[in-house]
Amino acid sequence: MITFIVFTLSMICIQFVNNSFIESDSLVQEVIENVGRDLRYADIYRRADKLSKNLKYMLIWSGAEDAPLSYFGGGQRKFLEKNCTNINCYVTTDRNFFNGDTTKFHAIAFNGRTITTMGKSQLPKRRSHHQKFIYFNMESADNYPLCSAYFDDFFNWTATYRLDSDIPLTYIQIRDNNGTVVGPKKDMKWVDMGFLEDEELELRMQNKTKAVAWFVSHCKTRSKRKDYAIQLKKALYSFGFSVDIYGKCGPFKCPRHKEETCFSLLERDYAFYLSFENSFAEDYVTEKILTALQHTTVPIVRGGADYSRFLPPGSYVDATKVTPNVLASEIVHIMMNTKYYSQFFRWWSHYSYRDPSQSDHICALCDALNDESKRAKTSTYKNFRKWWNTNNRCK
Ligand SMILES: *[C@@H]1O[C@H](CO)[C@@H](O)[C@H](O)[C@H]1NC(C)=O
Ligand SMILES: *[C@@H]1O[C@H](CO)[C@@H](O)[C@H](O)[C@H]1NC(C)=O
Ligand SMILES: *[C@@H]1O[C@H](CO)[C@@H](O)[C@H](O)[C@H]1NC(C)=O
Ligand SMILES: *[C@@H]1O[C@H](CO)[C@@H](O)[C@H](O)[C@H]1NC(C)=O
Repeated sequence: MITFIVFTLSMICIQFVNNSFIESDSLVQEVIENVGRDLRYADIYRRADKLSKNLKYMLIWSGAEDAPLSYFGGGQRKFLEKNCTNINCYVTTDRNFFNGDTTKFHAIAFNGRTITTMGKSQLPKRRSHHQKFIYFNMESADNYPLCSAYFDDFFNWTATYRLDSDIPLTYIQIRDNNGTVVGPKKDMKWVDMGFLEDEELELRMQNKTKAVAWFVSHCKTRSKRKDYAIQLKKALYSFGFSVDIYGKCGPFKCPRHKEETCFSLLERDYAFYLSFENSFAEDYVTEKILTALQHTTVPIVRGGADYSRFLPPGSYVDATKVTPNVLASEIVHIMMNTKYYSQFFRWWSHYSYRDPSQSDHICALCDALNDESKRAKTSTYKNFRKWWNTNNRCK
């Protein structure tokens, strides 16, 4: 079957190059889609001068291997694979794609991590008025400030974890029972959830005999989260509980090939999980809350976000503004009463959550590139540094 497809494709491509090909619309469409799926044909396709007039081209300037740029793959493939409403986007890292004329791209994507060290000479020499320079970053502004004045009045759009980005790339997505995406967002209105009576859940929760787990590999961080975790561990000790630290920063080991085993332990034994961010920045809430939720543990959050934008009240514990001692007694208090503890999960009968990174985010990019009405927020980007660098991290 595969051989047959490859053979057919080769025939189509050869015919293209020979220019003896009668383009019926459906065949052209088929080739476009297959070029999207298989980059081996892209070059022939390009040389045959048959690139669709409709395609929106995005050049990844640097750092294609980091999230979120790594999600977009190459060519059209990802947009097709994810069944996006708009599939006519083409992604490449090849600066010579239009014979070196980078002004021909509809958009140029800059990676917020690698751009911090780039001087003017490493940035595009020319730009055209129609094209968008897009700032991408999933890492916190605290860890990746962008300080050079050159970047004020440089970007047209932003695509970051911040909710006020042009293309918000949040680590979690909240849907209501109808499947409509409702969050996270600023001024989120959560429904009143009442009390949940769920015996099966309560039985499962009774089996959780351990208090807190934490899987972590970066020990030294700007948020000093490890210090907090150690103090919490000490405070819990007097109640007969602990914080079990798995990974590089603690005594418990969880080798990569045993990840699934560790996660099932988490689910079975632990009541809470530390969803501590590595730094404090507005809206910076990462996959660490997903780790907690996906394993039926209550996230203990600590970060710079207003968490009410991300999760309903009564579904998490916020360590940001309380001391480890206060938090320890709160944890013990919750664990003493399974009925009370179960209420932390009642929102699951009103909402669902998911990781949007491998689907929605990919389509959101192509939707944006097709949205003619989407204009630059000129005032924001004239002062990009003021918008992004809220932590005074630039000298
Ligand atoms: C895309 O659609 C096809 C055909 O309808 C389906 O088989 C496939 O599972 C879908 N893929 C995704 C990621 O939704
Ligand atoms: C992008 O921003 C630059 C610099 O502010 C501006 O000159 C250009 O017109 C903008 N392009 C679009 C498409 O908005
Ligand atoms: C779901 O859709 C139904 C019918 O369209 C509507 O009546 C209901 O209010 C919606 N529920 C939510 C939570 O939006
Ligand atoms: C709780 O643990 C016991 C003993 O390990 C096990 O038999 C039981 O199935 C568990 N209950 C639930 C609801 O998981």
